[in-house]
Amino acid sequence: MDILGIDIGGTGMKGALVNAETGEMITERFRIPTPKSRKPKAMAKVFKEIVEHFNHSGPIGIGFPTIIKNGVCKSKGNLHESWLGVNASKLFSEAVGLPVTVLNDADAAGYGVMNYGIGKGKKGLVMTITIGTGLGSGAFFNGELLPNFELGSIPNKKYGIIEAYASNSAKKRDGISYKVWGKRFNKFLELVEFLTCPDLFILGGGSSKDFDKFKEQIKIKTPVLPAKLGNHAGIIGAAAAALHKDAKDK
Ligand code: BGC
Repeated sequence: MDILGIDIGGTGMKGALVNAETGEMITERFRIPTPKSRKPKAMAKVFKEIVEHFNHSGPIGIGFPTIIKNGVCKSKGNLHESWLGVNASKLFSEAVGLPVTVLNDADAAGYGVMNYGIGKGKKGLVMTITIGTGLGSGAFFNGELLPNFELGSIPNKKYGIIEAYASNSAKKRDGISYKVWGKRFNKFLELVEFLTCPDLFILGGGSSKDFDKFKEQIKIKTPVLPAKLGNHAGIIGAAAAALHKDAKDK
């Protein structure tokens, strides 16, 4: 079944049609920048444009950059605070008149990696980390998603939360090299390693393709692998999650 997978981030909103059984993207990725306001109405309008671009009339899976519980935004992440309490699932579904499944963006990306990528068949506790505007995290135990881990929100004395120190937007904001940023990212991994004792880290998101530029700075004991699906994992995972929800509902 073809499902439209959409990965909504603080910087860009990207979609592609996905064969959710095989996890293959069957169209090019289409991207529109996230509206500057990052408010619900403006973002729903861009979402509609993406759906119309694909002339799609089937189910849609969306990875969304906030905590999502039963379709409702429970945090603002890097978006506008007016998202708090909004039923994103209802808003997006009503915008296009199609069935929509919404889950956290990092959970979606992890879902893609664990089902179709390098995480397939990996047992124990796997932490998938997406490095982008924020630091997203997906936790999987024996392949099963434990939703809404917010490891990027670990408190940090100087920066408030750790993603403001170790995300890709922090790298850009401070104009630092991968070498310098890699040390920050390693500090983040060290903390997560200490707090959760995982068996494996898988890195995704835009910066994971540059893993070679910062891997020397990663000194933790837990194995760390870059996700080969790269930045497509969020789209593929969102589509797959919609398919599985669909299957459960029947
Ligand atoms: C949010 C997470 C999200 C991550 C990546 C963070 O700001 O708190 O929910 O997964 O950004 O977009």
